[in-house]
Amino acid sequence: MEANCLLVRPWVAVIRFLALIGCSIAVVVQLNECTQKLIKPPVTTHTRFHVNNSLWYPALTICREPPFRTEVLQKYGLGASPRYTSEWRNFPWGDVTLEQLYSEATYPAEEVFLLYGLNGATSNVELSSSYFFESGACHTLIPKATTQEAGLSVGYSILVTHSGIVQTTTQDSTGLLGWHVYVHEASETWTESKMQSLGRQEALFVEVGEEVHIKLSVQEFHQTNVGKARLCVNEIDGGEVRCAERCRWEQMTVDGCGAPWLPGLDLPDCQEYNHTSNLIISYLRYDECHSPCCGCAASCRMVRYEALPITRTPFPATMSQIYVFFNSRLVTLMEERPAYDWSSFLAEMGGSLGFLLGLSVLGLISITEKGVEVVTARLASKKNKDDPVTITSRIGSTGMTSLVGSSISRPRKSSTRRSRRSVQGWFRSEQALQPSSSVV
Ligand SMILES: *[C@@H]1O[C@H](CO)[C@@H](O)[C@H](O)[C@H]1NC(C)=O
Ligand SMILES: *[C@@H]1O[C@H](CO)[C@@H](O)[C@H](O)[C@H]1NC(C)=O
Repeated sequence: MEANCLLVRPWVAVIRFLALIGCSIAVVVQLNECTQKLIKPPVTTHTRFHVNNSLWYPALTICREPPFRTEVLQKYGLGASPRYTSEWRNFPWGDVTLEQLYSEATYPAEEVFLLYGLNGATSNVELSSSYFFESGACHTLIPKATTQEAGLSVGYSILVTHSGIVQTTTQDSTGLLGWHVYVHEASETWTESKMQSLGRQEALFVEVGEEVHIKLSVQEFHQTNVGKARLCVNEIDGGEVRCAERCRWEQMTVDGCGAPWLPGLDLPDCQEYNHTSNLIISYLRYDECHSPCCGCAASCRMVRYEALPITRTPFPATMSQIYVFFNSRLVTLMEERPAYDWSSFLAEMGGSLGFLLGLSVLGLISITEKGVEVVTARLASKKNKDDPVTITSRIGSTGMTSLVGSSISRPRKSSTRRSRRSVQGWFRSEQALQPSSSVV
């Protein structure tokens, strides 16, 4: 019947053939796209608010302003800031090392902090100090314990003092007097370089003679490694920023010598003018490590603290009181998740196969069944050609074929391998069956 119809109206066959080719191409294209998505899934970010049972406070890095003792710099023939490389010509090379200069000219923690504590105890905080080129000695308070409550009384309480204020005011009264307060993740070190900080630190300035209340809010960001070129790592020793900083330092050293503000470099301090000025020039010029940054991995978990000064009131001069606290235990959680998996893949493929080719699991099963039946029938007919029992069994299978196959009728040739196989099987069954039905 079908064959007759195709013979009578050949353009029907052509249209069906073209439609089949078009649909098959569409299916192949989509299969390719879905496979690509499965290999490299798109990532979506989910944001939610979460009330944490316990909170980690951020680390606070405090750098005094002005950072250097002017009288010490003057004693060694330097200008107001170590930036001015020409002044280093007068430095008594050989008598004094850079390390000695920095320890003498900067302010140690004892001269900056009068009192500090977290949740009412100094033991909840670890203090560490290091030298920075322009910021002098900076002191970092790292929390050692979480807090379960929110509010001013359980946060950081820091009393800072500005020693030597009398001389400083008389010498340069225009300069700022106070402290830079940087709020950053405890697992990341503080860096002087804005570019290197990767946007992870919040900066505030506290003037001399102020009581400042700083409110914190926190965002946690969880990255996924799925479908990413640059993989993230969970526990980075010293943090992502430290790794990039060290890399930058290694890239910028020129004469094989370092300085106290480049800790962790296995190099002696520079001991003459040429080397030091080269080092300073390259330190100021390269404020970012050049990629690839020593293969430093990103950290999968990033915590960003936002610090907002809510009140500033006067405080007895040469001192300042700083409170840093959470107002609530609310955390903004941002999580990256892959937005494509096997179930989406199956759904999409099933949709396009069903819609474009009319294929389903049941259809595939009956096509296979039919194929098997036809093959067995053929084999049987070859064995004993004149046996009437085989003919009746063939008639039985014809009935089934026409039921299942009536909805789809396809021409003999098609471009895709998969559809060709099933379609050819179907046509073969028609061809094989037609003579038998005419016999009957
Ligand atoms: C929130 O709680 C989880 C586990 O309870 C902890 O890992 C995480 O550090 C907390 N977030 C903050 C910002 O402290
Ligand atoms: C430093 O550099 C200048 C020229 O750039 C050179 O004349 C001088 O000899 C150098 N000094 C030392 C100690 O290498």
